[in-house]
Amino acid sequence: MKNKNILVVSYSQSGQLDLITKSVLSTCKENVNVYHKYIVPKKEYPYPWDLMTFMDTFPESIYLDPCEIEEIPDDEIEYDLVILAYQVWFLSPSIPTTAFLKSSFAKEKLKNKPVITLIGCRNMWIKAQEKVESMLTSMGAKIIDNIVLIDQGNSLATFITTPRWLLTGKKDALWNIFPKAGVSQSEIESASRFGRAIQQGLDNDNEQSFKSLCYGLGAVNVNEKLIKSEQIATRSFEIWGKLIRKLGKPGDFKRKPVVMLYLVFLLLIIMTVVPINMLIQIINRKINKKSVELQKEHFEMPSGSSTERMKEFS
Ligand SMILES: Cc1cc2nc3c(=O)[nH]c(=O)nc-3n(C[C@H](O)[C@H](O)[C@H](O)COP(=O)(O)O)c2cc1C
Repeated sequence: MKNKNILVVSYSQSGQLDLITKSVLSTCKENVNVYHKYIVPKKEYPYPWDLMTFMDTFPESIYLDPCEIEEIPDDEIEYDLVILAYQVWFLSPSIPTTAFLKSSFAKEKLKNKPVITLIGCRNMWIKAQEKVESMLTSMGAKIIDNIVLIDQGNSLATFITTPRWLLTGKKDALWNIFPKAGVSQSEIESASRFGRAIQQGLDNDNEQSFKSLCYGLGAVNVNEKLIKSEQIATRSFEIWGKLIRKLGKPGDFKRKPVVMLYLVFLLLIIMTVVPINMLIQIINRKINKKSVELQKEHFEMPSGSSTERMKEFS
C-alpha cells in the first residue's frame, strides 16, 4: 500500500496547539508521511501579550487582513489530507492563519483537498470557522472534519483565566478557586482518539475521500448559549474595527485612544448588555427550541457532537 501524505499546518504561541496536534498524530503513524509546516510571522506577535497590542489586533483579525509570513517553499508533494490547526483571535482565525490561507502555497497545495480543522481556543469559534470554511471553499478545498478543544471551566471562569494566561503567561489555578487556564491535560491526551480514526479512514480508502473520518467521537460541541453572543460581538468588532483601520496601521499611535475607548465600551457592554441578552436568550431558546437545535447541529457539521464511536477509538 502506498503511504499517504498528510500536510499539517499550524500556528501556536504558547505551544498548546502543538501539544494537541501531537496528541492527534501520536496514533496516526502507520503508512503515512506527516509533513508539519509551522506558520512564522515575519514580525512575531508578543506572548505574553501587552494589553494594548492585544486589543489593537482585533480590527485586522475581524477583517481578515493578513500579516507578512515567511514563505513556505513549494515541496512538490501531492498531499492526501491536510490538517489545519489554528487559534481563534477575536472570533476570526488568528492573523497568521489568515495569512497562510491567503498564501500562494495554500492556494496551490490545498486545492481540491480534504481538510481537517483542529481548533484550540477559549470557547468562541463558530464565526472563525465560518470564515475559514469560506476561504477554504474559495480555493476548492473541503472541510471533512472539525475538531474543537476549548479551555476548561465555564464561560465566567475562562473570562478570567484565558485573558490572565494570555496577558501574563500564567496558567496556574488562580487563588485555587479558578480552574487552570487552557485546555485540560486529559482533553489533550484523549485527542489521540482522532488520530486512530484518521488512520483507519486513510487505511480503508484507496481513493482520496471527502467523508468525515472523526464522526461519532465528540469532535465538537456547540454551546448554543454562545451563538447569539458571537453574532452580536462580531457586529461590534466590525463597526469599531472599520473606524480603527481608517486611523492607521496596527501599532499606529493614532489608533491607541480609540482602541482603549473600545476596551472600556466592551467591558461596560459585558457587564450590562451581556447579562440582559443572556436572559433574553434563555427565553428565546425555550420558545424556539427546535430552531436553536437545528442551528447547533448546523454549526457542528461535518463531524458532529455524537459520541457513539468513542469507546472503539479511545
Ligand atoms: C488576540 C487573541 C484573541 C483571542 N480571541 C479569542 C476568541 O475570540 N475566541 C476564543 O475562543 N479564544 C480566543 N483567544 C484564545 C486563543 O484562541 C487560544 O486559545 C490562545 O491564544 C492560546 O493558543 P496557543 O496556546 O496555541 O498559543 C484569543 C487569543 C488571542 C491571543
